[in-house]
Amino acid sequence: MCGIIGFIGERQAQPILLDCLAKLEYRGYDSCGIALAGNSLKVYKDAVRVDKLAKTMPLLSETVGIGHTRWATHGEPSQVNAHPHCDCGGRIAVVHNGIVTNYQSLRQKLTAEGHNIVSETDTEVLAHLIEKYYKGNLEEAVKAALRDVEGSYAIIALMAGESKLVAARKDSPLIMGIGDRENFVASDVPAILDYTKRVVYLEDGDIGIVTKEGVRIRRDGREVTREEHKILWNAEQAQKGAYEHFMIKEIHEQPKVIRVTVAEYMANTESVFDLTVTSGHLDTMFILACGSSYHAALAGKYIIEELAGISARSEIASEFNYSSFIPARTRAIAITQSGETADTLRAIKRLEEAGCRVVVITNVVGSTASRIADRTVYIRAGPEISVAATKSFIAQLMALYWLALSYSKVDIRRLDNLIKGLRQLPGKVQQVLDNEDTIAELAGRLSVYDNVFSIGRGVNFPIALEGALKLKEVSYIHAEGYAAGELKHGPFALLSNRTPVVAIVAQDNTREAMLTNLKEIKSRGAPAIVLAEEGDEAVEELADSIIAIPSVDAIFSPVINVVALQLLAYYAAKHRGCPIDFPRNLAKSVTVE
Ligand code: F6R
Repeated sequence: MCGIIGFIGERQAQPILLDCLAKLEYRGYDSCGIALAGNSLKVYKDAVRVDKLAKTMPLLSETVGIGHTRWATHGEPSQVNAHPHCDCGGRIAVVHNGIVTNYQSLRQKLTAEGHNIVSETDTEVLAHLIEKYYKGNLEEAVKAALRDVEGSYAIIALMAGESKLVAARKDSPLIMGIGDRENFVASDVPAILDYTKRVVYLEDGDIGIVTKEGVRIRRDGREVTREEHKILWNAEQAQKGAYEHFMIKEIHEQPKVIRVTVAEYMANTESVFDLTVTSGHLDTMFILACGSSYHAALAGKYIIEELAGISARSEIASEFNYSSFIPARTRAIAITQSGETADTLRAIKRLEEAGCRVVVITNVVGSTASRIADRTVYIRAGPEISVAATKSFIAQLMALYWLALSYSKVDIRRLDNLIKGLRQLPGKVQQVLDNEDTIAELAGRLSVYDNVFSIGRGVNFPIALEGALKLKEVSYIHAEGYAAGELKHGPFALLSNRTPVVAIVAQDNTREAMLTNLKEIKSRGAPAIVLAEEGDEAVEELADSIIAIPSVDAIFSPVINVVALQLLAYYAAKHRGCPIDFPRNLAKSVTVE
């Protein structure tokens, strides 16, 4: 949830740390700080964004330091709660992502031993524990401190007078970046892309020792080597370029993302989804995920059932984790853009412990999910910086279409048409993007309302949920995504001329029922904004406003519809003056349960 960075080299650390932190703000942005080590420790931190912190700092010449951008869990955003946290002597500094679950008892114990703990955070105990165990060797002290700690962590420790960083992780991502006589530690790749593309992924239980000469890993008292990976993303992909926000940039990247992802799957037809790695002959496929990825999973259920004739069951990973029944020999797919979502990781582990093998669909090479999965299928969305997922959602849909087509039960003619349809999707999505001005104008009208319903049926029901989620996240409009058939089972009580309904009318077996819904909505005076194919006269009669959608095979309509809904949410947020790339209280990757 928080972003962490460490740098050591021959150059000034301060501007590099600030630059990397700015790139990590999508992981949390309620406070930030850096610590630099020379003969003494210098710490600057506050409940402000990185650019503001930078303005309050003098120029510092140290060449080693750590930094943190926070998404508060323990203690409100404030200067004292911001990281880095220090020991009593002010010689050791720590940045941390994760949660120390036994911090209360550690705090009591350390306080009784004379440590003065000043913040409300769980992290500060780490600095005091390291101080307690320090006997002249920082890495040994970190190792000893972590023996007392329960919970999850990715940490970097720094000490005055020591030219090294010590890093460790448990259930929280951490990478080491290798440069030329300078090295890095970071919570994720986009932070360091401007400086290096050579990374080593730390494993749970590793202690990483980073000096300007190189990186080493120790584990169970021995030196271990881990494979070095070359990152294929480039720095420009993680920059806004001429766009005002990452969200709109990433929305516009979607035709390319579809093209690249599908091309890769087509080139590796045989091996992409080898479901034989999932055990058993059972006829239900579990698809687990959270948030937007869950909406892709839910769409996947309809897609896989229709095209592959396999019964599928989509579950919210956090809720799946409460179910006491885990089918031992089922097929399971977990979808996670970041590959680090705690609930999804837990679901994967539970399934594996029960003897089920899991295919992971993720965007991040080397992510935790990819490392614990039996098989990983990458989407090729490139770095997604906007907190609100857009292009990764589209790429996840592509993976699910490809999976369904790989196991397709449809006849050869339909299969040919579907493949043709897939190839045409980038052009169709572009047509929606070309309609941006009209959607923006409509979003302006929508932006004055406080409550909105978003409805769909069948494969477009998850898209209605996703459209509502996008509106909530970036425009702060209270939006309820609903299965259209459920509207009259309660929510109708809320319909009035103050509650617009965004309705998706697809050209499939849901159309007639959607038209009936529109009539019911209209007779309650609620404004209807309808996504429908151009020239649909029946819709024209019932809708207050129409977003014209290009014609595609109905099974692909989620791709087209979701892009229109993303634009609607983006422009509604813009009209309302919201901080689109940094929605309040959110962070890009949710590494706590
Ligand atoms: C919404 C959004 C989140 C994520 C969710 C899961 O726009 O981005 O709902 O979809 O936190 O994240 P991943 O896919 O990384 O597991």
